[in-house]
This record gives sequence, structure tokens and C-alpha cells, in this order.
Amino acid sequence: MDKFAAKRDVSLLPLVLTEVSYRVGGRTLIDRVTARIESGPRTVILGPNGAGKSVLMRLCHGLLMPTSGSVCWNAPEIPGQPRRQAMVFQRPVMLRRSVVDNIRYALKLSRVSPEVREARAWQALERVGLSALGDRPARVLSGGEQQRLALARAWALKPEVLFLDEPTANLDPSASREVEAIIAAIHAEGTKIVMSTHNLGQARRLADEILFLHEGRLVERSSAERFFRQPASPEAETFIKGELPWE
Ligand SMILES: Nc1ncnc2c1ncn2[C@@H]1O[C@H](COP(=O)(O)OP(=O)(O)OP(=O)(O)O)[C@@H](O)[C@H]1O
Ligand SMILES: [Mg+2]
Repeated sequence: MDKFAAKRDVSLLPLVLTEVSYRVGGRTLIDRVTARIESGPRTVILGPNGAGKSVLMRLCHGLLMPTSGSVCWNAPEIPGQPRRQAMVFQRPVMLRRSVVDNIRYALKLSRVSPEVREARAWQALERVGLSALGDRPARVLSGGEQQRLALARAWALKPEVLFLDEPTANLDPSASREVEAIIAAIHAEGTKIVMSTHNLGQARRLADEILFLHEGRLVERSSAERFFRQPASPEAETFIKGELPWE
């Protein structure tokens, strides 16, 4: 048995953030955030534009290092093993390759074995309704199609934890609903969803719990049901009231 075998079945979660701050150029973008993210419920990081949602997700996913504080996984990723966490960015980047090659390449980078890659890639495209477009250059896809491809690419990795940063930004309402349905399906298969949005309607539809971020601070954390019924912080109350007329 290799030295990692015993750890392979141990969940990555909970993810524990302790007093995480991120400062750059004299500005504090994330200010002493402490939170424990458990497996199970869909966690939505909600907050206005510029609140720090994308920066916080990058800190969680390990793409940025906190200036102070710590980001700790229950069991870190195992070197040489397929990655167990994935992220879909606010502006997905497609490789200058075909649609299916974008997924094949992500599977290869994530060290998924060659025997399973091909079936996995097409299965993921099937699930987001893009299998007919598999051989097209990815960069000619529409915005909504690219967003679905980004989700398929992440889904194909069968991650334990999936970070989704504003997955429906720039999509029209019907494309947004399609993407939301895909997210619900990924959750139903047992993947932990951590998603950011500034869209209240989307948070209502998808969130089980809300982390409300305001000016880099975690102002409030509660179940989605309680958050919308009775926000505890004035900042959240203002945010909810301010957006309701456009719901
Ligand atoms: N590398 C950086 N250097 C300086 N400022 C940054 C950097 N990255 C982000 N910021 C600033 O930090 C703040 C938070 O940015 P972030 O992208 O996390 O916001 P957000 O909540 O995701 O907003 P949106 O809803 O518009 O996506 C913004 O004011 C942004 O300009
Ligand atoms: Mg953002």
C-alpha cells in the first residue's frame, strides 16, 4: 500500500478559513474572514459587485495565498493523484482547440487515466447538451455555450468540491436557467457546490446556506431560508431591499 492510500477516502472537507486576510497595494480586499465550509449544503457567497467574492474563491481554491490567516482542507490533495477540487471562473478561458479537446486536456492535466478520459469527455458534453458541437473550435461557441462547456469541463473531473464564480454572469435568462439546472444536477450527484453570485434570484433558487460578503468582510452567515426571511445585518437587509424591485 502506498503512503497515500489510506488518505484517499478521507474527505477534503471541511474547509476551514481562519482570520483570512488578503491585502494588495495598501488595500484590504478580504478582511479577517473566518468560516468552516462543510460537505453537503450548497454554499453561496453573496454580495455586491466588488465585495471580494472572486478573491475569496481564489483564496479557497489555492490560487491566491492569504496575506495573513490560514486556509486549511481536512485532507489536502494528494500529489500525483487526480485533483478533487475544481473551479469555474467568472470569465472562462477556452483553449484554442475543439470543444471536446478542451475537456480531454483538462482530464489529462488533472491526471485522469487515459483509458477513462474519452468516455468521460463525451459524457460530460452530453450532460450539458453540447455533444453535437464537440468537434467545433471552442472559441466560436456563444457565451452561454462556453459557460456550459466550462461546467462540463469541471464536471468531467468529478470533483469533490466545485467552486463556481458567477457561473451565469453575462447569460440571458434562459441560458442562466439551463446552467442552474446543470449546477443542481452536479450537486445531486454529491459534489459540494461553493458558488458566488450577486444575483438574489439565483441565490434564492440555488443556495442552502449564504455567506454574505460586504467590503471584504463576512458580515453574515445563515441558512438561505433565514437569510431571506430575516437578514441579521443592516448590510444584508439593504442589499436585499435594494435588489428586490428588479427581481
Ligand atoms: N489583484 C488585485 N489588485 C488590486 N485590487 C484587486 C485585485 N483583485 C481584485 N481587486 C479589487 O478587489 C475588490 C474585490 O474584487 P472581486 O473581484 O473579488 O469582487 P467581486 O465581489 O467578485 O465582484 P463582482 O460581483 O463584480 O464579480 C474589487 O474592488 C477589485 O477591484
Ligand atoms: Mg467576481
